Amino acid sequence: MVLLLLLDAISHNLLMKMEWLCTVYRTESMIFTLIGIITAGVVSYLYGPYWGVRKVPGPPIVPLLGHIPLMAKYGPDVFSILANRYGPIFRFHMGRQAMIIAADPELCREVGIKKFKDVPNRSIPSPIAASPLHQKGLFFTRDARWSTMRNSILSMYQPSHLASLVPTMQSFIESATHNLESSKQDITFSDLSLRMATDVIGQAAFGVNFGLSKPKSVTDTIDSDINNQDSGNEVSDFIKQHIFSTTQLKMDLSGSLSIILGLLVPVLQEPFRQILKRIPGTMDWKVDRTNKKLSHRLDEIVSKRMIEMKIESKDFLSLILKARESDTEVSKNVFTPDYISATAYEHLLAGSATTAFTLSSVVYLVSKHPEVEKELLAEIDGFGPHDQKPTAHDLQHKFPYLDQVIKESMRFYFVSPLIARETSKQVEIGGYLLPKGTWIWLAPGVLAKDPRHFPEPDKFKPERFDQNCDEEKRRHPYAFIPFGIGPRACIGQKFSVQEIKLSLIHLYRKYVFRHSPNMEEPLELQFGIVLSFKKGVKLNVINRA
Ligand code: HEM
Repeated sequence: MVLLLLLDAISHNLLMKMEWLCTVYRTESMIFTLIGIITAGVVSYLYGPYWGVRKVPGPPIVPLLGHIPLMAKYGPDVFSILANRYGPIFRFHMGRQAMIIAADPELCREVGIKKFKDVPNRSIPSPIAASPLHQKGLFFTRDARWSTMRNSILSMYQPSHLASLVPTMQSFIESATHNLESSKQDITFSDLSLRMATDVIGQAAFGVNFGLSKPKSVTDTIDSDINNQDSGNEVSDFIKQHIFSTTQLKMDLSGSLSIILGLLVPVLQEPFRQILKRIPGTMDWKVDRTNKKLSHRLDEIVSKRMIEMKIESKDFLSLILKARESDTEVSKNVFTPDYISATAYEHLLAGSATTAFTLSSVVYLVSKHPEVEKELLAEIDGFGPHDQKPTAHDLQHKFPYLDQVIKESMRFYFVSPLIARETSKQVEIGGYLLPKGTWIWLAPGVLAKDPRHFPEPDKFKPERFDQNCDEEKRRHPYAFIPFGIGPRACIGQKFSVQEIKLSLIHLYRKYVFRHSPNMEEPLELQFGIVLSFKKGVKLNVINRA
């Protein structure tokens, strides 16, 4: 009996233990299942973009970082190196985000023109995803809204309108370079050209004179201006904010924390931005504050102009407002005040940094190639007396060598070495089937340094763009596309070339330039939304007269 009782107690105990073990086992297996599901979720989130394009060749990926370490290792040459290794179409992972890079002129034609209807939009990179202000311009709008906006804006880029802007451009150029000869010290030419280009586009886009070209001192740098807390007038405030906001749009790991997260784990970008922008002192807080102020200022300009609506105004903002008044309901719905502000602001952004960079590259390169300088001066002097101002027609037809010098400088320092696109449905490109939503980026910067299209690519040779030279005749028509390709190509191409030519003619009639001993060699470049000079282009000015 005692034995039976003992056995019963033991079996009861065992049963309890078994039950407890089962519970533990069930809980553990639930935890393991949960961990499994989460791991699978994280892995499929991180590798999802890779899976759809895995057949496209590319280097091994570092988890989370993708190919960012390669970018850090090789710098701007990374895409040329990968194109040599993997061929004209390859995979590149910006953190989690897979991108297909097309580094071949025929592939550029395929993506940009032939299959445009399947690849009509730009992908939105993480710095832009964090900045609503930058998203509503023409650059990042999509599909039907984009085509309505583009058609309305195109009508404002008629040759006659561009020609009418020549005197305005000329007067800002003269004002910005007015007392260059008095500068005994170096000038930071890249800052001077940014002020000038911002003033020109400020006038053309908003009808507002930002007054940056009025030389307080030509040796003033943008940095000293930004740090100068006393010059608190509204205009310079606006410009400081614009420059800050633009220079924060970085594509590597030096941007704000939310932008970095956007590159690595995009799903975390917005929640973190929402938190960080509320913490004073963080970069996200500063960017948010600046963008809010900018948007506010832009909205003010737009609403004021909507009330005033001067008939004679020819600036971009007035033209867009007039088009909105006279056009259909469609364009009224598309050009809501926030989109108008963003588009006008986009002009300021797109029209200043790119043009200033190109102008600085030309002057920098010409000043270290005396034979090019000699030929350029001969062409400019040969045009006529120095007080004879060139017209838009003269600019297009009477300066063929200047044309070649500008093209070669744009090839040498490529402002926009990558051109973003995104597939809007499954499409075959270069023999690979790419799913809907794939980021496909063209790499004109790689083509510009490819010896098959540009023999001796590291030499500065403007004559390679001479219409009569064999190299030019043999070259693929899409091997050189600094302003992009197809229906989404740059809308401001003629505007900026006109401004760059006018500026160079004016400058070289009066001065030549030499590199300052204070400038690093070779020039250091900074990768942002567009390329810029890390430490500026520092030059000595020599009066020609
Ligand atoms: C040297 C000067 C410039 C360069 C190198 C340049 C380059 C580019 C490039 C590469 C694109 C992308 C094209 C594509 O995706 O195929 C683009 C687009 C654009 N650019 Fe420019 N640009 C310059 C000046 C300007 C100026 C002065 C303006 C405005 C007045 C401007 C406004 C735009 C706009 C609005 C777009 C977007 C077009 C669209 O999506 O429909 N750009 N630019």
